[in-house]
Amino acid sequence: MKVISIVGARPNFIKLAPLSKEIRKHFDEIIIHTGQHYDYEMDRIFFDQLGIPEPDYHLGVGSGTHGYQTGEMVKRIEEALLKEKPDVVVVFGDTNSTLAGALAAVKLHVPVAHVEAGLRSYDKRIPEEVNRVLVDHCSDLLFCPTERSVENLKKEGIVKGVYLTGDVMVDAINQNIRIAEKRSRILKELDLKSKDYFLATVHRAENTDNPERLRSIVEALCDIENLVFPCHPRTEKFLRKYGLWEKVEKSITVIKPVGYLDMLVLEKNARKVITDSGGVQKEVYIFKVPCVTLRETTEWVETVEDGWNVLVGADKEKIAKAVNEFEPQRENYGYRFGNGKASEKMTLILSKLEKQL
Ligand code: UD1
Ligand code: UDP
Repeated sequence: MKVISIVGARPNFIKLAPLSKEIRKHFDEIIIHTGQHYDYEMDRIFFDQLGIPEPDYHLGVGSGTHGYQTGEMVKRIEEALLKEKPDVVVVFGDTNSTLAGALAAVKLHVPVAHVEAGLRSYDKRIPEEVNRVLVDHCSDLLFCPTERSVENLKKEGIVKGVYLTGDVMVDAINQNIRIAEKRSRILKELDLKSKDYFLATVHRAENTDNPERLRSIVEALCDIENLVFPCHPRTEKFLRKYGLWEKVEKSITVIKPVGYLDMLVLEKNARKVITDSGGVQKEVYIFKVPCVTLRETTEWVETVEDGWNVLVGADKEKIAKAVNEFEPQRENYGYRFGNGKASEKMTLILSKLEKQL
């Protein structure tokens, strides 16, 4: 069976890494990289650190508006699919590369498998929500990380092809945390002591592209003592545009985005994490590190229900209060993201599909 995996952005690469290893034990895999992310720290570093095979197609789409970026990706992915004639296409998460891959495949009647299906924040102003709803509705195999994601799909009438697999990001953590703790020098380089610093990431469009929200977040972050901030290029662009970059540089340890191994170590040893990232919310929950989320809604509702994550939006006072006072309900930890064998389960399900072909 010929499997095509389609990726393009940082979180896609991290999810591909463990699955690709399993897929290659049983099937032929071709990797298409849309080129959505392209800076070394957003792209190549993950292939090098996680041993992801070299993409067979690099479509070089790059940045642009949603319409331009998604449209160019659909066009170029379609050409590659017509040439390769895969038996199944695998897409990951909720980026524009995910949507483009699913759309190109479904229109050519190629079965689509969606890794991280069924997540919902029920907020359609967030581009990722639109992407995940549309991708789920055109997928044939829906690999759900949690029971809640299975239920969400059921509410939308999607029951066929739905599998509770657990979360591939747990596989990625399990495969890399020991290596990270051995190899990473990030704590030493930044002179950080375990549980003595805060870690922040901000990159979601609803925060970066809105000057009031970004200013309010920056003011809150600048008041935090001992804060490390690996800064996404989108955020750096808008911080400079709104004249906030100098303030950030003066008050915070702002660094380039870090590789996955350094990120795992930074997360695990942080006192608290302040973020708007989907993946980071989940990873720090897994590490039992309290999380302050700079959003009004989240698709990772379990982390909030368990009391390990608090949603504060972009309000300066709310952020400060949570950073200073929020403490998780430690006894409430009802871990629900799978046992680190999600990639194996997904591959087994793909094998069943192979028998039907
Ligand atoms: C994308 C995803 C988001 C995901 C994030 C992970 C969509 C709609 N959004 O957001 O779900 O959380 O990736 O990091 O797909 N840029 C660079 N270098 C790069 C990549 C981006 O400078 O290598 C800058 C460009 O100015 C670009 C901007 O970042 O315009 C935004 O990049 P884009 O890929 O459109 O969206 P992200 O914000 O990265
Ligand atoms: N990540 C990383 N370096 C960073 C920031 C994040 O390796 O500087 C990793 C993080 O550990 C997680 C993934 O990127 O595995 C999350 O991706 P991101 O926050 O870009 O996107 P989201 O999950 O919000 O879609």
